[in-house]
Amino acid sequence: MVNPKHHIFVCTSCRLNGKQQGFCYSKGSVDIVGEFMEELDSRDLSGEVMVNNTGCFGICSQGPIVVVYPEGVWYGNVTADDVEEIVESHIENGEIVKRLQI
Ligand code: FES
Repeated sequence: MVNPKHHIFVCTSCRLNGKQQGFCYSKGSVDIVGEFMEELDSRDLSGEVMVNNTGCFGICSQGPIVVVYPEGVWYGNVTADDVEEIVESHIENGEIVKRLQI
């Protein structure tokens, strides 16, 4: 996938030393990554949407943080339960999930 239509970044508090430790990680962000992968797969979108885990975005108190490109939309306080809504509303229908936007 060279040019995904959307690229989703999920903060899992990755550190340069390879460890994941920090606020987003402690709030279950690894589960969010897995949920995105499952949700995209179930909607047959895996071929056009890329998901990556990242290091800290610097706004930990609003985490877990999810950033969606090409729109550059930042979502905060995301849980695994919010993933379905983000995929359906934002990725499939182009409508930003305002209640989560920061
Ligand atoms: S640890 Fe996720 S924004 Fe800082």
